[in-house]
Amino acid sequence: MLIRVPKGWEIKEREATPKDTFSQRRMLLKTLLSVPAVAAGTSFIASGKAVVAKENNDDPTSDLYPVIRNNRYKLDRPITPKEISTKYNNYYEFGSHKEIWSLTDNLSTRPWLVTIDGLVDKKIVIDIDSLIRQMPLEERVYRHRCVERWSMAVPYSGFPLSNLISLAKPLNSAKYIVMQSFFDADVAPGQRQFWYPWPYTEGLTIDEALNELAFIATGYYGEPIPNQNGAPLRLAVPWKYGFKHIKGIVRFTFSDKRPVSFWEEIAGSEYGFWANVAGSVPHPRWPQATEEFFGPNGKEKRRTQLYNGYSEYVSYLYRGLKGESLFK
Ligand code: MTE
Repeated sequence: MLIRVPKGWEIKEREATPKDTFSQRRMLLKTLLSVPAVAAGTSFIASGKAVVAKENNDDPTSDLYPVIRNNRYKLDRPITPKEISTKYNNYYEFGSHKEIWSLTDNLSTRPWLVTIDGLVDKKIVIDIDSLIRQMPLEERVYRHRCVERWSMAVPYSGFPLSNLISLAKPLNSAKYIVMQSFFDADVAPGQRQFWYPWPYTEGLTIDEALNELAFIATGYYGEPIPNQNGAPLRLAVPWKYGFKHIKGIVRFTFSDKRPVSFWEEIAGSEYGFWANVAGSVPHPRWPQATEEFFGPNGKEKRRTQLYNGYSEYVSYLYRGLKGESLFK
């Protein structure tokens, strides 16, 4: 992806990061979890033992995995070895290189509150374990394609994003779902790099979010999803480039305005809102006609498929959208 070098006139990192604000976050989470309800107009959904907060990364939902695979979604290639897909990652909160996996251990994913707000019937704040336990979990094998040209094929466990939308009860005026990652520069040193527009933000139209492929991953290779791949909640929209697959989600906001996503804000001419995969539309630094697939026998060159091979599921979403850059 793109790394921006700070300009001489920009203030120094240590002056830009209000450290106290970040360190108060966990205190706030603990306080919220210890009371039965939060602010007026907000419903706090929690169920018995699922709400018990853990101070470490032992996953209280590990008993749920593995889950049954939904065989409707097929692959045209073998699954990428887990050792590769969990050790070659993009997660800029932890660094701009691919070997961030061990650094993500510092992120505590319990307690973890998820907020659902904006144009909804009623704002919801729900703890992650209650949310996961009330969702219909299944496994799906998906192709996964990064704009940097590498690709993988991975088994996610999780639930359709449409189920979260049913829980949220958005108003008719909602046109977009905006997702935000956690913000805690104490554990994610990349977030001290103030020239990035933290927190990481992504968005989909409501129609895209309701598409059957749009998935919220909570598991990976039959286990709870590891931190480096986006624990405890990560988006999987396999017809779009990997940068849309936001990790470590804490907030879903329904809006009538199209959000500006993280990479779009940094370099809008290179990374757009739609980011659908297409071999015919090159990125300024990565021609997209082919991809490098990480398979069990090493890297293989493959031809890029329109919508990453998922046209039959998603092409209807984009018919009649004139003047939009659908493939960047
Ligand atoms: N989510 C957050 N919060 N921060 C990130 O830097 N990187 C994105 C996406 N989700 C990113 C993120 C990019 S560029 C890619 S390609 C995928 O995560 C990589 O997912 P993977 O590491 O599970 O393969």
